[in-house]
Amino acid sequence: MPWPAITLFIAAACSVACEEVVNDGEPYLHVMARPSVFNVGERRAIFCQGRNLKDEINWYSPSGVVVKERSSLNSRMYVERKVEEGGVLVPLIFHELKIADSGKWTCKSGEYNETIEIIVGSKVKIVNRTENKIGEEGKSIKMDCEAKGHPMPVVQWYRNQRPINAEKSKNKYVIKKKGDLYTLEIKDLSYEDIGDYICKVTQKALSHYLDKTITLSVKHAPILRTYETVETYAIFNETKNITCSAFAFPPPIYEWLRTKESYDYSIPEDDIIFTDKDGTYSVLSLRVRSEEDLGQYKCKVSNNKGSKTVIFDVSLGNKPPPPDSVVLLKANGSALVFNVTCSECILQKEEEGVSPAPENLTVIGFQFQLTPASEGYPEPDWDAALEIFSLDVTEDSSYAVGPLPNTTTFHARVRSLNIAGYSDWTAIKPNPSTTAHAVRTLATAFLLVLTLFATWYY
Ligand SMILES: *[C@@H]1O[C@H](CO)[C@@H](O)[C@H](O)[C@H]1NC(C)=O
Ligand SMILES: *[C@@H]1O[C@H](CO)[C@@H](O)[C@H](O)[C@H]1NC(C)=O
Ligand SMILES: *[C@@H]1O[C@H](CO)[C@@H](O)[C@H](O)[C@H]1NC(C)=O
Ligand SMILES: *[C@@H]1O[C@H](CO)[C@@H](O)[C@H](O)[C@H]1NC(C)=O
Ligand SMILES: *[C@@H]1O[C@H](CO)[C@@H](O)[C@H](O)[C@H]1NC(C)=O
Ligand SMILES: *[C@@H]1O[C@H](CO)[C@@H](O)[C@H](O)[C@H]1NC(C)=O
Ligand SMILES: *[C@@H]1O[C@H](CO)[C@@H](O)[C@H](O)[C@H]1NC(C)=O
Ligand SMILES: *[C@@H]1O[C@H](CO)[C@@H](O)[C@H](O)[C@H]1NC(C)=O
Repeated sequence: MPWPAITLFIAAACSVACEEVVNDGEPYLHVMARPSVFNVGERRAIFCQGRNLKDEINWYSPSGVVVKERSSLNSRMYVERKVEEGGVLVPLIFHELKIADSGKWTCKSGEYNETIEIIVGSKVKIVNRTENKIGEEGKSIKMDCEAKGHPMPVVQWYRNQRPINAEKSKNKYVIKKKGDLYTLEIKDLSYEDIGDYICKVTQKALSHYLDKTITLSVKHAPILRTYETVETYAIFNETKNITCSAFAFPPPIYEWLRTKESYDYSIPEDDIIFTDKDGTYSVLSLRVRSEEDLGQYKCKVSNNKGSKTVIFDVSLGNKPPPPDSVVLLKANGSALVFNVTCSECILQKEEEGVSPAPENLTVIGFQFQLTPASEGYPEPDWDAALEIFSLDVTEDSSYAVGPLPNTTTFHARVRSLNIAGYSDWTAIKPNPSTTAHAVRTLATAFLLVLTLFATWYY
């Protein structure tokens, strides 16, 4: 900072900080600042004011050395002397504070003195605020959080918003500190340890807070998302999708096997097996053509950490009866509500569990398919249909289908669904239409205005 600027800076600071003290002729010395915390690199001036003193006013460093005036050797920290009306003002000026400047500084003139304590801190900086780590099932992993700062920061590790208590963790977590490096060690890793770990760093004196998030993945053997044995049903000559799903890292490989007379035969990976590219699930599209195809199928899920097997027991189920009548109850701009009647169906009521009678399985829901009707083409184009809407059985047999495009007339059909498969389709006649909601709201608004007007008029 050039000289005039410094002077201005001092003057401005003083006009705020210098108190008006009545000059009663008595000796007087005062440091015009409170104990403070400053940041490394900051520029500061601490004022000492004196009156009627016979000795020179000096600033003493924490080690007791007199602070000199500015010189070429002494340009970071120095004193100035400014004679004011009836007194002397001696600012102690720091151009760039250092941690080593922390301590008690004394302003003194003869027997008069006053001391001020300052703390110079440096805020913790974290270069990488996020980090990814990969551990292995059964092994341990160390996560680092480097927090260099002054005063020494308080570092706390968190998982899922909760502080980690290493003492109470029965040796699951070990927390260590070595210099500025804070370490969290997690022992005996399992898939349950997957998640975010946060190291929160606080320097209360500097009102400084910072954190770092470490995302942990753990290589682990597959965990099944289904039971190990699944009873399932199929309908002759219909496609039955059997889904096998597991959670594993690295992503697992799925293998499908057919069990016949206690031998397992591998089912070739052709167009009847579809495995999701993330390895979340695999689907076997089974077509039961005869009794021969019933029985056990296995799904083996494996990665380099281990493997699991699911047994699917496929029995013959009945094809559900189709709905016999469907009535449109309501329509608006985005949904159609139907009343579905299926007199031959045994409807699955909530919490009742699936019917165990394979020749008469309960109907668990209805599926609706809609395709926009285009003028001049009386036949529905099901290839252009919207995604199928699957709805669970309801108490009052009303089914809201949506979201749908407004102002559209559809060809629509519905079928029953049980755990074995689907019924044939039942056409919904006449073709239902969604309304134009914008028009309706406008009409409503118009009506409201009319009503208000009428009320006001009469
Ligand atoms: C500072 O002032 C106090 C009285 O306020 C006095 O007792 C003490 O001796 C002085 N210290 C020095 C180093 O002059
Ligand atoms: C910080 O993270 C980036 C990206 O993850 C990485 O490339 C870099 O090496 C990391 N730096 C340090 C100091 O860890
Ligand atoms: C299944 O289809 C085959 C040939 O397509 C046919 O011979 C057989 O009768 C059908 N089975 C049933 C139960 O419909
Ligand atoms: C069976 O799954 C395949 C692959 O996910 C899918 O393309 C097919 O539509 C499904 N079939 C049935 C009847 O759900
Ligand atoms: C349309 O009807 C459905 C089903 O009753 C309802 O959920 C939806 O909120 C309605 N939408 C509008 C815009 O009124
Ligand atoms: C649906 O139709 C059946 C038979 O026509 C009737 O008993 C029932 O009350 C209707 N449900 C609703 C919600 O309209
Ligand atoms: C299924 O159950 C319904 C209602 O209990 C009954 O009317 C029907 O005869 C049964 N069908 C078969 C094939 O058992
Ligand atoms: C129908 O929906 C479209 C897009 O969602 C909208 O732009 C249009 O205004 C709506 N028309 C009517 C009549 O509600």
